[in-house]
Parts: sequence; structure tokens; C-alpha cells
Amino acid sequence: MAEKERGILILDFGSQLTQLITRRYRELGFYSEVHPHSMPLEQIKKMNPYGIVLSGGPNSVYEASSPRRSIRELVEIAPLLGICYGMQLICHDLGGQVEKGAHREYGFNFINYKKALGKIPAQQKVWMSHGDVVTKLPPEFELLGETENHPAVIRGPRILGLQFHPEVAHTEHGSDVLLAFTEMCQAKPSWNAPHMVESLQKQIRETVGEKSHVLCALSGGVDSTVVATLLTRTLGRERVHCVFVNNGLLRKDEYETVLKNYEGLGLNVKGVDASRDFLSGLKGLTDPEAKRKTIGKLFIEIFERSLDPQWPLDFLAQGTLYPDVIESISSVGGSVTIKSHHNVGGLPEKMKLKLLEPVRLLFKDEVRKIGQELGLDKSLLWRHPFPGPGLSIRVIGEVTEEKLKILREADDIFISTLKEKDLYDKIWQAFCVLLPIHTVGVQGDGRTYDQVLALRAVTSSDGMTADWYPFNYDFLREVSNRITNRVRGISRVVYDVTSKPPATIEWE
Ligand code: XMP
Repeated sequence: MAEKERGILILDFGSQLTQLITRRYRELGFYSEVHPHSMPLEQIKKMNPYGIVLSGGPNSVYEASSPRRSIRELVEIAPLLGICYGMQLICHDLGGQVEKGAHREYGFNFINYKKALGKIPAQQKVWMSHGDVVTKLPPEFELLGETENHPAVIRGPRILGLQFHPEVAHTEHGSDVLLAFTEMCQAKPSWNAPHMVESLQKQIRETVGEKSHVLCALSGGVDSTVVATLLTRTLGRERVHCVFVNNGLLRKDEYETVLKNYEGLGLNVKGVDASRDFLSGLKGLTDPEAKRKTIGKLFIEIFERSLDPQWPLDFLAQGTLYPDVIESISSVGGSVTIKSHHNVGGLPEKMKLKLLEPVRLLFKDEVRKIGQELGLDKSLLWRHPFPGPGLSIRVIGEVTEEKLKILREADDIFISTLKEKDLYDKIWQAFCVLLPIHTVGVQGDGRTYDQVLALRAVTSSDGMTADWYPFNYDFLREVSNRITNRVRGISRVVYDVTSKPPATIEWE
């Protein structure tokens, strides 16, 4: 899809917001990719973008070490949109002037337009983050809008420059600003779910060819399910071999339900029940990292063992997403390895399989749109994330069958109450944690000495930061009552009111 899809190219000069520009353009229906600011000119020409965006960045253009590139060369290929550092670079390179500003502008500000830009009103509330300012425009440039202090919107031949961030939600009419640029580029929106599916299917056929077979490890989560369904619909079920391992650390009835769903989707799936192996492997382990390592190792062993030697495999499919890819290609401080899914890491080399990552250029919301287009159930597409090591990192301390049983029952009550009260979709992730603490309780006339259960529910957009969800007291009271009344082994329920940071989402 990459080189063949025409779209908006984003050159990354190091801003934290670069990824967001790409997302916004895709949401508006324009395909978009992020590349390092140093992307070779020939490659850009080959890509033939409708337009090129120069992102913001932390540097000052007048410093010798700041990232640069020739604006004249770029504008010959396509119209340019410079955002913040991008606008300053354009001015600096074309004969204008950029200096340290007397007024730094961070946060909200107002722009007054002298000349109209698209559908944007004469005064616009925007979000800014800059210390440097343009003090002289390059020849042939005109000032469209300014803040109280500085030029904020400028236009030159095939160039638009913005000193603010149209991609952030706080900027009003941000989408209109982004659309004013696509109009300048005469780009037509075509990035929608049917087109995505068609384009991915074409790419899969080209990569896999007529005969090759693909192996898919299924986790029950959105990404692997969408990938497996997409591959099966494209290549046929005979060539797509799926394996779903029950590690005994799944939630209540999850193995059976998910397996049934897979079969309903028409996947050629082999279910492997290895709960015994995992439980005995975890015996005596209390350290979270030791649990994770043991599970990872066992997973590979069992996965390998469950493969049918008759399957003529050539590819291993993975649900790598675009944020991981961007992180690995980022021009400023990006890591060089793409995160591999922990559960199949190491397999491709050992089994001499080629990696197939059909959704590597997509964001999570796009994967969901594809899932919807393929007819996947909403409840599957909007499931809360669930960690690979499953309930093992939610039973604090040693994992036993008895503790898993208690946790499963409690978790089922918590999650079904969330769904019943229409709260599930408002929360990014919710679960229970079984603590290795016994406390005294009283039930009927008897004294109990059972375990403490913690409820965790957070809002987040990517799991990197999170905040605890402000349930009302009645909801908490009801969940607590239901759990302590129905689940034997729990004498006390507490709610975790810690954000991330300083805590993590999981307890282990
Ligand atoms: P933390 O606890 O690090 O979690 O704030 C962030 C997100 O990652 C999930 N998580 C994991 N996922 N293997 C996984 O596949 C793991 O070992 C693991 N640990 C945490 C967690 O559920 C949350 O969504």
C-alpha cells in the first residue's frame, strides 16, 4: 500500500505531535504517512504525494545543528504545509527571518485573519507552543493572520505556513485548516474502510503470491482477529492456519467463547488447551518478570509443538501497528527495533518464516474500521486490552488454580456490571486484581479470613498514561456487594485511585 497509495507525506522534524497530523489527515479521508525529515528526495518523488507537511520540532532554525532541508527542492514536488518549526524552516530557507521571540507563546491564543483562509472565521482560537518567531516573511509571501504579537498564518507560492498546531483537538477549526491545505493540493479524499480493505487485500495477494501458506497466532484481541480474518478472506481458509492457545490464564469462559467466535468468522483455527502446562510452569513463581518470562517461553514451545508438520508454511502473520513502525523510524530519538509481539518472538527465524504484517501502516482505529467492514462484532472490536500474560499478573504472588477461579468470578461480575450500567465503553481498561492479603470479615454468624480484591478502571488513549475512572459511590457499592456476596474467598473490595504515572495500569 505504502508506495502505491497517493496521500499527504509528513516529514518529521521531531515534534511529539507529528503522528497526530497523520491521524487527522486519515480521519479526514486522506491517506498519510510519516517519514524522517531526511527522507531522500528520490524516494519522495517516487511516492508522488499530493502534498508535503513539514512538522514541528524542538530545534531553532538558526542553530547550526538544527535539521534542515531545501524547501525549493520539496516545493517542486508538491505543495508544502509548514507547521511551527516547519513554517520557520520555510521562512529561514527562502530568505525570511526567524528569531528568538520577545513573547513566547504556549497554550491558547487567538489569531486574527487579515485575509480569509478556507472556511476559518476571522478570529480563531488556537493552541501554540513556540519560542522562536518569524520576524520577516520571505519574498512573495503574504501574511494571512497574526496573533497579538507575531505572524501566525502565512502563504507563499504553493506554500502555507502555520505558527500554531491545527492537529490538536484544542485548536478550533483545526480540521478546516488541514482541509484548506488539501484543497491547495487538489487532493481528493478516498481513504475509507472499503478502500482500505481493497488496498490491503491487493497488497496481501502481491506479497503472499498464489501458493504460499500463512501461520497466524491468535490472542483473542482485536488486532490478531482482524489480521486473521482479512487474510482468510483474501487467501482462503486452506492457506491461512490459525492457532489459539489456552494458557489457562484467560477470563471466565473466554477460551470457549473466543474459539467459537473464530469458527463463526470462518477461520481455520486450531485450539490448543495447554492450561496444565502453564499452571505447572508457574508453580512457585512470585516475581512478575519471572512469570512473564516463563509464560513467553512456554508459549513458544507449545505453539511450535501444536503446528501440523503437513502445513506448508512460508509466512508468519503479525498484527504490528503503525505507532510501532513510526517509533522505529522516527528521526529524533526513535528506537531501532520494532516491538515484536512477545508471544511469537523468535519464531520466524527459527522456523525460517517470512514476517507478514498486513496492518503495519494502520492505526488502531483503522484496524477497528476494517474489522467492522469485514463484519466483526462490535463487542469484539471494542474489547478492553488484555495483557499476554493474562490473569497471571493479576494474581499477585504465586498463581494457583484456586486463586484464578476466584479472580475469574470476581472479574466477570465487575465487567458485566460495567456493561449493564453502560460504563464499559467509557473506560479504556477495567479489571480485578487478587491481592495476597487476608483480612478478617464476618458473614452470617461466622468469622471469615479471606483475600482482598482490588478493582482497577482507567481512561487512557494509548496506555502510556492513564487516569482512574471516577465511578459514583452507588456503582462501587453495588459491585462490592455483588462480589463479596457471590464470590467465596473474597472478604474485602477496594478501588485503586492511582493514575499512571506514578503507578502502572497493571499491578505487576
Ligand atoms: P502497564 O501496566 O505497563 O500497562 O501500565 C500498559 C498496557 O500494557 C498491558 N500490559 C501488557 N501487555 N504483555 C502484554 O501483552 C505484558 O506483559 C503486559 N504488561 C502490561 C496492560 O494491560 C496495559 O494495557
